[in-house]
Amino acid sequence: MKKSDLTKAVEIADGIYWVGFDDPTAGFRCNPYILNDGDETVFFDPGSVPHFPMVLEKTLQVTTLNKIKHVVVTHQDPDLCSAIPRFEELVTGIGGAFDICTHTRASVLIAYYGTISNFYRVDANDWKLTLKSGRTLRFIFAPFLHFPAAFMTYDEKSKILFSGDIFGGLSFDWSLYANEHYAEAMKAWHENYMPSNHILRHTINKLDKFEIDMIAPQHGSIIPKKDVKNYIEILKNCECGEFYFE
Ligand SMILES: [Fe+2]
Ligand SMILES: [Fe+2]
Repeated sequence: MKKSDLTKAVEIADGIYWVGFDDPTAGFRCNPYILNDGDETVFFDPGSVPHFPMVLEKTLQVTTLNKIKHVVVTHQDPDLCSAIPRFEELVTGIGGAFDICTHTRASVLIAYYGTISNFYRVDANDWKLTLKSGRTLRFIFAPFLHFPAAFMTYDEKSKILFSGDIFGGLSFDWSLYANEHYAEAMKAWHENYMPSNHILRHTINKLDKFEIDMIAPQHGSIIPKKDVKNYIEILKNCECGEFYFE
């Protein structure tokens, strides 16, 4: 894997960019992503208020604000949603607009950030979003991981799974692409944020029918194709959550 310049937006696949930043003091890292499809930009989990200036700078390296048409948010947490009103202010200020793609149950909570955009409810739209080009994003329900109505997004064209909190990692030994310690980082994350192996396995089993070329989680590191199957197996067998009852 070639070394990436983390001070800039990093193209992780054709037209798809990581627009996060490298903070060596943070074990808890957030990864926003941009997908450009023609003149349509989809933003995945755009981030928080404190991260907004850095994410905006990188966003503007790879798209323009008027192209942002969809903001996909896997649930309502502030680390991925609280910057939405900042983006709305800029986008509507130039006459643009985007919808917020999320589950109905998350939309009820996201509105409390003071958002003004329309919601595109994945559960009311056959769990998919078709872009103008015909490209389809499929949403995979991931109940209780960790929000009751969480989901992941599979881009049929790139075969990338934007996995939200699932496949996330927690460590100070971070690299953009999963390193040899990522299994430990991923276990540390799931032990602390996911409720049980039973619930985790229920969703991870759904991935068997997808051909996945890359996993792009909202925390931790990106998992390249050669490691996808291995990390799926690790999560199927990951004991988590229940240790709180000991
Ligand atoms: Fe979360
Ligand atoms: Fe998160």
